[in-house]
Amino acid sequence: MAIQKVGVVGFGAMGSGIAQACAQAGFDVTVRDVDQAALDRGFGVVDGSLARLVKAGRATEADAKAARGRIRGTTALGDLKDSDLVIEAALEIIETKREIFAELDRICPPATILASNTSSLPIVEMAAATKRPDRVAGLHFFNPVAVMQLVEIVRALTTSEETVAALREFAERLGKRGIVCKDTPGFVVNRLLVPYLLGAIRALEEGVAAPDEIDDAVKLGLRHPMGPFELLDYTGLDINLHVANVFYDEFKDPSMAAPPLLRRMVAAGHLGRKSGRGFYEYDEKGQRKR
Ligand code: CAA
Repeated sequence: MAIQKVGVVGFGAMGSGIAQACAQAGFDVTVRDVDQAALDRGFGVVDGSLARLVKAGRATEADAKAARGRIRGTTALGDLKDSDLVIEAALEIIETKREIFAELDRICPPATILASNTSSLPIVEMAAATKRPDRVAGLHFFNPVAVMQLVEIVRALTTSEETVAALREFAERLGKRGIVCKDTPGFVVNRLLVPYLLGAIRALEEGVAAPDEIDDAVKLGLRHPMGPFELLDYTGLDINLHVANVFYDEFKDPSMAAPPLLRRMVAAGHLGRKSGRGFYEYDEKGQRKR
């Protein structure tokens, strides 16, 4: 079945990027969030990102305008009923996701594929909340979605080969590389990334070097575009703490346990770029101050 209409649940940092990427690839997109204010914020992020792509010469004004016109906002989950594919990018709370999947299962035709953008929660638990566990999979994007070329296609124990094949084709149509992986914590990227980021925080706790020294070491010594503290601030310390907790619950491996400094920074509200302060400080536009 060819995917034409895409539904997105959640218009936050990831949902807005996903909706935009789908619209730029020519899909009609309906995005659902809880209220008009959340929808307005999401459209603001899309407008900002499209403007950046135009400024960088990566998209024409006309293409950006057409993509924006293909995204429709709604507060009613029922408006996603005509979707061929729904991508859930709501809060990383398994009960919330299970409720959303159960509701989507009720309202969408049997052929609709239901996918989650979760970065760490078990896809099979969402699949089990539906009567179509063969048509549930993970579809994990990376921030900023407009620029990042990877999508992880997560095959749960129940996911059919047909569903995996449809999602592979979908990733290709988005112009991204879709890699297929098992439904294990962190899939591929976060499984490698999280212990590395936690290791950087432990190095800081031990006084190995200051954050900017460690960041420069990684950027200049490994050619990463961002150092670990820049990346932690960029993706959000609360998100990283949540992922570390999920990993530790699952593996009981000390290298996955959240370092005390991370826990305390989140408790203090130092969440990174979005809160104005993390390992570095940011102005209201999200630009680093020092
Ligand atoms: N929308 C559109 N375009 C954007 C953008 C956005 N949100 N963010 C950056 N860009 C574009 C810029 O316009 C620029 O385009 P040109 O090169 O054509 O001029 C390009 O991206 C580079 O941006 P900048 O020059 O502003 O800055 P940069 O060179 O430092 O790149 C970055 C920014 C792309 C974010 C880069 O630093 C990077 O790749 N960082 C690593 C990001 C990463 O690792 N993401 C994965 C996080 S893990 C995750 O998401 C999964 C999870 O589960 C938590």
